[in-house]
Amino acid sequence: MINWEELKHIHVIRKLQQIIGQWFYAEVFFLDERGNVRNYDPYDRQREFKNPLCANLLPKENGREMILQYFRDTSDSFSQMKENHLITGGPLGFERVFASKIVLDGEYLGAVIAYCHIEAPVPVAKAKEASAKVEALGMDKEFFDQALQKVQVLSPAEVKYFYELVDLVAQEITTLHTEISKREARIHALSNQLENRYSYNQMIGKSKPMQELYSLLDKVSSSEATVLIQGENGTGKELIARSVHFNSPRKTQSFVTVNCSAFNENLLDSELFGHVKGSFTGAIKDKKGLFESAHNGTLFLDEIGDMTLTMQVKLLRILQQGTLMPVGGTEERKVDVRVIAATNKDLKAMIDEGTFREDLYYRINVINIMVPALRDRKEDIPVLVDHFLLKSCKEKEVPLKALTTRAMEKIFDFVWPGNIRQLENEIERLVVLSGTEQKMGPELLSSAIRDAVASGGAKGSGMKFAGKLKDALEELERTMIKEGLRRTKWNKSKLAKELGISRAGLIMKVEKYGLDKRKGMREDGEAA
Ligand SMILES: Nc1ncnc2c1ncn2[C@@H]1O[C@H](COP(=O)(O)OP(=O)(O)O)[C@@H](O)[C@H]1O
Ligand SMILES: [Mg+2]
Repeated sequence: MINWEELKHIHVIRKLQQIIGQWFYAEVFFLDERGNVRNYDPYDRQREFKNPLCANLLPKENGREMILQYFRDTSDSFSQMKENHLITGGPLGFERVFASKIVLDGEYLGAVIAYCHIEAPVPVAKAKEASAKVEALGMDKEFFDQALQKVQVLSPAEVKYFYELVDLVAQEITTLHTEISKREARIHALSNQLENRYSYNQMIGKSKPMQELYSLLDKVSSSEATVLIQGENGTGKELIARSVHFNSPRKTQSFVTVNCSAFNENLLDSELFGHVKGSFTGAIKDKKGLFESAHNGTLFLDEIGDMTLTMQVKLLRILQQGTLMPVGGTEERKVDVRVIAATNKDLKAMIDEGTFREDLYYRINVINIMVPALRDRKEDIPVLVDHFLLKSCKEKEVPLKALTTRAMEKIFDFVWPGNIRQLENEIERLVVLSGTEQKMGPELLSSAIRDAVASGGAKGSGMKFAGKLKDALEELERTMIKEGLRRTKWNKSKLAKELGISRAGLIMKVEKYGLDKRKGMREDGEAA
């Protein structure tokens, strides 16, 4: 609907009203679709009317009622008419009224009505009639007669011009309304976009891959189907699993997480399915498994690719039958659990190798969510950096810090190996290292990020590794492995997991880059 309030502030419209008043002594009123006047407030005693009849009639209740009722009636019949213009007689029988419709897409939204003008001197009989009518309404007759004298007689040329001006007001309102509606639609669309743009639950990201992820998450929110989340380490798989659960019909029930790679087979078995007292050494009492804890809720099986084949069989059975057998138990128990699984492994390749059961794969892969790596959505880096800065400064209770442009550039240019956790750690580290400094420069960045950029050479972001991308990546990989080995005290299994590669793969790379232990130690010594 038309925003009548806003029209008051539109310069062109005000100007037009002024001209019509000053030149033709007519008042311009805006009528809404029900014929109510929207630019006249009876309690506004300050308002001056150029039109002598309005000046006389409107301040008095009876006169006002007569005019307002006339407007409503006129609007009623006008809205039924095909014509966009109306020239008709006024309520007093001698004056003329011109109205112009406000229509949009064939819909009657109101009218602009000009009160009033005359095209010829008023015959005495007509004037008497009007005067009597006014008197009958209990108004001052003398006063009215004076007013009547002042009403302008317009020449045919003037009338034409007058109509055009009034019509222009209606056109202006229509145009303005169209523009405002467009603008509002645009703002609405933008704010809608903004809503999912920057975040979804705890997830940050405005890139296209993330938008696609969000709409997929929207779609699966009402479902209770099993979900398989695949993506590299630290890309947010757990965050997504939580989001799926907390938007699902089971959101009020428990969400239980188990990291399958954190247990050996026997422990995972009793962890998931529970055990009965005495079933093995140390089983001093009955223990409920995570499946039972998650009854009616969701169980998140993280790193499902690390499950042994035996465990895969047990899992498949639960998923198919909804019953489980605790370790050492003799009775099946019923559970109702929704499973969400995640892995950074290529399960398809594992099926080919015979290390992952195909039937289990199809059973868990009802809904598949592929999480994009950070390097495939670089435009999210700035928002993620801001997010982690805020988070880290809040946690450490320090005033919000900021990165210098140079530091931000380096972070942006770094080829993140798909890892948001790494970015988060880097920011946290920066916040700690910067002490009381508010601005954090590139010198504080960890060497891998600082050096990787420096080694690129070429100027301008994005082009940095042109021609030498492979070299730059290898250099980065070497640095990461070297630093990782030192940090994990040469725990290759741990580092391999962190880097999202197999242990064998890591050993190969250690050899390739000549990072064997003795050499590594020697380099350490040299560096010190
Ligand atoms: N899109 C994201 N927005 C904000 N933080 C994220 C996002 N993705 C991951 N994180 C954060 O990065 C870290 C790693 O995420 P996580 O879900 O544990 O990854 P994964 O399970 O894939 O290894 C967590 O601290 C998580 O909160
Ligand atoms: Mg994880």
